[in-house]
Amino acid sequence: MVTLEQYIFDHTDAESDLLAELNRQTHLKILQPRMLSGHLQGRLLSMISRMIAPTNILEIGTYTGYSALCLAEGLYKQGRLHTFEINDELIDFAQSFFSRSKYKDQIVQHVGDAIKMIPEMTKTFDLVFIDGDKKQYLQYFEVVFPVLNSGGFMLIDNTLWSGKVLRDIEEDDPSTQMIIDFNNYIRNHPGLSTVLLPLRDGLTLVQKL
Ligand SMILES: C[S@@+](CC[C@H](N)C(=O)[O-])C[C@H]1O[C@@H](n2cnc3c(N)ncnc32)[C@H](O)[C@@H]1O
Repeated sequence: MVTLEQYIFDHTDAESDLLAELNRQTHLKILQPRMLSGHLQGRLLSMISRMIAPTNILEIGTYTGYSALCLAEGLYKQGRLHTFEINDELIDFAQSFFSRSKYKDQIVQHVGDAIKMIPEMTKTFDLVFIDGDKKQYLQYFEVVFPVLNSGGFMLIDNTLWSGKVLRDIEEDDPSTQMIIDFNNYIRNHPGLSTVLLPLRDGLTLVQKL
């Protein structure tokens, strides 16, 4: 019998050959491959980006580049996607896939701490994807909010944190507390409209009003 998960994949666009290869190579060669957004979330990121047709996209947490390539699918003609990654060992791997995509001239890789580097940028953004270190989500929000255009959208990954947001927090688990604090903060922020989707590990969609 077909599982519900299989049914969902059967009724969702397929990954491109390049994305499927990136997914496979990440699982074969890179630590913690479950960090990659994956097929279903990737197709949603692509669809949302195509709905917005952003001129500039900002991403925190390139990892191997899967979500960046999905988001780039919606970029406006001359648009740019700026993606930040603190782990310099991942840069060449991601670049090897970016260079084979039709978005190669539109994706700009930044190596370093997004919290320090974003305030130095002079650009503003129509779409932001936050997918870095979960303990830093509030700090990412603080640097991203000023450069998000009014009416622009922010997507934040892992906001259900394997369902731990509902459980008692263990002492040595700062990530869960930070995700809970972050979810409460944005839900109560008067300048935002917020929807938390139960996709994969939780994906929050936010619009700056
Ligand atoms: C969950 S992975 C990103 C997955 C990727 N967005 C995808 O869907 O394929 C998180 C990445 O954020 C990076 N990261 C963590 N803290 C960061 C920071 N302060 N600035 C930039 N990148 C950071 C990590 O090194 C890691 O590669």
